Amino acid sequence: MLKIGKLKLKSNLILSPMAGISDLPFRLLNRKYGCELAFIEMINVRSLGFNSKKTREMFATTAKDKPLGLQLVGAEPKYMARGLEIARQFKFDILDFNAACPVRKVVNRGEGAALLKSPKKLQSLLKLIRKEFVLPVTVKMRIGWDSGSVNAVEIAKYAVDAGVDAIFIHGRTRQQFYCGNVDYKQIAGVKKAVNVPVIASGDNFSGPLVKKMFDETGCDGCVIARGSFGNPWIFSQVKEFLESGKLIPRPDISEVATVMKEHLNLNGDFYGEKSAVVLFRKFFAWYTKFMPHVRPLREQATRAKTKQEMLELIEKLGK
Ligand SMILES: Cc1cc2nc3c(=O)[nH]c(=O)nc-3n(C[C@H](O)[C@H](O)[C@H](O)COP(=O)(O)O)c2cc1C
Repeated sequence: MLKIGKLKLKSNLILSPMAGISDLPFRLLNRKYGCELAFIEMINVRSLGFNSKKTREMFATTAKDKPLGLQLVGAEPKYMARGLEIARQFKFDILDFNAACPVRKVVNRGEGAALLKSPKKLQSLLKLIRKEFVLPVTVKMRIGWDSGSVNAVEIAKYAVDAGVDAIFIHGRTRQQFYCGNVDYKQIAGVKKAVNVPVIASGDNFSGPLVKKMFDETGCDGCVIARGSFGNPWIFSQVKEFLESGKLIPRPDISEVATVMKEHLNLNGDFYGEKSAVVLFRKFFAWYTKFMPHVRPLREQATRAKTKQEMLELIEKLGK
């Protein structure tokens, strides 16, 4: 259904790499509910050299966690070369290079979305990656730096000339961060301009919105990002809508609670109890987003310190 270089995928819905979110428990859960290709959260090529506990944790994977993508961010060729050499020691199926991250700390170093201002530099970094890897190589871009410098088609052409196998594009500028309208026309323009798959991102929150993305841009695939927060069912919901036009309602509270416990347990196995609970707090809020009268429970979840406390709060949902 979607082919990126040699990687053949049955689904054209892909789970985004998301900093601070896309850890192994999160990926496994989304896979269980319908996601096929998932990414490790973005890793800076410089930090790869430090071999820290955090970086090793990021690369943790299992047999079920496949196919798996790695996303790198960087800008300095000397760090890139060393980072790529280290990355090669790990197993993954596709390598994406980030030219989309809007965070100040990142762009101030000339990385992420800052590369949209230097198409030639971005191209030379992509060529470097292409030379080092036989795996599918892709780029994640935005439509431009700001509304006055939209250059999506130019960036995409430079990337394709560098040999990328697909383009991931978030239909916003860096200036917009994650807010404001998604520019479907710019994504459509990129799709028309290149001969590799274009995989679109931006407000892919539901079946109807993903359908709108496909219809208005002609894209080959869609990236699910914030739509997966507290909603690993999104992959099956969107698939069903695209195939039959049927809207699947959110699962009832008891099913959500079961998946919350599963998520908490996966976190516990992976991080140990203390970190598992702290990391789960934000997910508690996301899972319960559409539930009535949960504010007090959510507030307590932000202070929960043990797994037992968190489980008791989950048990109280809907009661
Ligand atoms: C918390 C958070 C972290 C993100 N981290 C990454 C990242 O590491 N790499 C990346 O390519 N995109 C990242 N994104 C951007 C998403 O991939 C996506 O392009 C963006 O959220 C727009 O899609 P959405 O409107 O469907 O959420 C992140 C988004 C969020 C909200």
